[in-house]
Amino acid sequence: MKIAVTGKGGVGKTTLVSVLAGLYAREGKMVLAVDVDPDSNLGLALGFTEAELAEITPISEMTDLIAERTGSTKDSFGKFFKINPQVFDIPDRFAREKNGVRLLVMGTVETGGGGCVCPEHVMLKRIVSHLVVGDDSLVIMDMEAGLEHLGRGTAGMVDFFIVVTEPGARSIQTYHRIKKLAGDLGVKKVYVVGNKVRSEADRLFIKERVEEDDLLGFISYSDEVIDADKREGSPFETGEAVTREIELIKAKLGK
Ligand SMILES: Nc1ncnc2c1ncn2[C@@H]1O[C@H](COP(=O)(O)OP(=O)(O)OP(=O)(O)O)[C@@H](O)[C@H]1O
Ligand SMILES: [Mg+2]
Repeated sequence: MKIAVTGKGGVGKTTLVSVLAGLYAREGKMVLAVDVDPDSNLGLALGFTEAELAEITPISEMTDLIAERTGSTKDSFGKFFKINPQVFDIPDRFAREKNGVRLLVMGTVETGGGGCVCPEHVMLKRIVSHLVVGDDSLVIMDMEAGLEHLGRGTAGMVDFFIVVTEPGARSIQTYHRIKKLAGDLGVKKVYVVGNKVRSEADRLFIKERVEEDDLLGFISYSDEVIDADKREGSPFETGEAVTREIELIKAKLGK
């Protein structure tokens, strides 16, 4: 199963990814959590310590590896390189495990605004594609709202696109944007999870603005989640109420 979680900044993507990953790992599934957000912080939410995270180099910063695989040299960087680098060994080599979940940190590519096609970019896109199409682990991706590293073929193979929203117009607007973008990329279905809800009115706010059969469920606003974040801990270990709600959401994904 391949799951991509997206949505506006700060809505709770990383929280949802970390708890879902924890739940699947507890069942004994081989889970690969992939941090595709340029502002990556999934590691902390999965329970890695700062010291452990300092040891992890994002793939985008592995200049020698990227040069080797794409065949680009420092001089030719950005000019001539392979657009189909071999990447199948990369998840196993570079993912790090914590509490039964493996984490792969992709990192950021400076695109300088204008859709750059550089070796780093090709490499990340190729890895995402491999994870979705060619790797047999259960992959959960924590992505920004831009769907940057998803090409057409890859996007169509993702089983679940989950857009996290909160009770507010801006994150709902992002949902509509992602839905359009996802449609253009050949995504079959886009789901929504309403997070940080505090009341029936909050649920209604989201229900009224989201297509009925897109809505997977809700996660309540929870002080436990805030506290876990303050302690640089995992919401899965500490947020019991939220974990139960996410279990219901997971049940709807089947398998
Ligand atoms: N259900 C919730 N109740 C209370 N706080 C929450 C809840 N979900 C997330 N938060 C808090 O909201 C903040 C943002 O959450 P999170 O990092 O998961 O969002 P994100 O969408 O991944 O953000 P970013 O776009 O910055 O990556 C965190 O401080 C988190 O603890
Ligand atoms: Mg995040």
